[in-house]
Amino acid sequence: MNKQTNSFYDKFSLFYPLVDVLLKPQKKVLFNEVNRLTDGNLLEIGVGNGTHFKYYNKHKITAIDTSEAMVKTARKNSAENIEVLKMDGELLLFDDEKFDYVVLSHVIAVVTRPEQLISEAYRVLKPGGKMFILNHFTPNNWLKYIDQSFAIVSKAFHFRSVFYIEDLESIKKFRLSKEIHFGLGSYFKLLIYKK
Ligand SMILES: C[S@@+](CC[C@H](N)C(=O)[O-])C[C@H]1O[C@@H](n2cnc3c(N)ncnc32)[C@H](O)[C@@H]1O
Repeated sequence: MNKQTNSFYDKFSLFYPLVDVLLKPQKKVLFNEVNRLTDGNLLEIGVGNGTHFKYYNKHKITAIDTSEAMVKTARKNSAENIEVLKMDGELLLFDDEKFDYVVLSHVIAVVTRPEQLISEAYRVLKPGGKMFILNHFTPNNWLKYIDQSFAIVSKAFHFRSVFYIEDLESIKKFRLSKEIHFGLGSYFKLLIYKK
């Protein structure tokens, strides 16, 4: 967790609904995939404001975020099957193998130590459990130059524009079971991994 990122998201939480509008179509695909799974315990890390909670329709959800403002809004948007906690995804306070599913939506390129985030997701997942990562991924085409040119600007917005998931050692413990591409040059993807 990074204090500056935290304070950025505390302030940004007011404007986050604008970002949400842009991300809505991809999130609908994510929740369609999630809702096809059998019942179970689901952990969402870096949940944000929780306006998407209405799309979850059958799982027991634990949602965490490090930003106090995001947690407060997410609690207002939560329902009976959803518990919202202030917690660091890089240092989860849960026992090993507690969850059937982990969701990381637009958070992996925000956290300070993505390597640690994935290790923690692996630890708390049951064997055979699934991890969903929705994010932008720097593609191996002309779009990588755009990502590179935005590297400094993106720092000011507390995320990494240049992001290669294959650089993470901890992801190699998972098996990629499905990949869904969105947008121009497949810049956004939903990756579904199995432990
Ligand atoms: C870009 S927002 C994504 C919010 C939401 N998941 C979505 O898809 O719209 C990133 C969120 O991750 C949270 N975050 C950043 N670092 C975190 C960490 N180490 N652990 C948990 N949440 C974190 C931020 O506070 C913010 O709410």
